[in-house]
Amino acid sequence: MAKLFIYYSLSQNGDIVAEKLKEFGFDIRKVNAKSLKKNNFWNIFKGGFLAGINHKSKLIDYNNDIKDYDEIYIGSPIWNSKLSCPINSVLANTDLNNKKLKFVLYSGSGEAKKAVKKINKNYPSAEIVILKEPKKYREELEKLNGGN
Ligand SMILES: Cc1cc2nc3c(=O)[nH]c(=O)nc-3n(C[C@H](O)[C@H](O)[C@H](O)COP(=O)(O)O)c2cc1C
Repeated sequence: MAKLFIYYSLSQNGDIVAEKLKEFGFDIRKVNAKSLKKNNFWNIFKGGFLAGINHKSKLIDYNNDIKDYDEIYIGSPIWNSKLSCPINSVLANTDLNNKKLKFVLYSGSGEAKKAVKKINKNYPSAEIVILKEPKKYREELEKLNGGN
């Protein structure tokens, strides 16, 4: 089964997840977007506000062709308990029907309450795994369960 990890990362936590999933045989598609530039206090405020209103970032050169894949993992940092704005756009621009779907969420607290609620509502058969700062806590990557 061909597997693809589509993800966004502002401060490398998502990149650590991508490296691990690559080892497990995934193809990797990192999303570029007109979004936050840095992880500083003002941007956490701004990004938190925008995620709070479910804003969709403008994607840069996003390839939404996933026809060669049976299994898709979507990776998003958690902003204000929700999915990040670039991943809101990915979800709006990618036809995930009939794909085996898993969300890999990374957050500072290890929680992602509102994002989980939204995923359960919109993608009821999707699995969800939440990692607490995998850049700092590498053992969190064990929750990826070998990409299975
Ligand atoms: C705009 C913004 C909002 C955030 N809001 C939350 C939050 O509500 N809860 C939480 O646990 N972490 C929050 N964080 C922390 C990130 O989710 C966490 O650092 C994540 O691992 C970042 O992933 P990345 O390095 O791949 O971007 C926030 C970070 C940013 C930049």
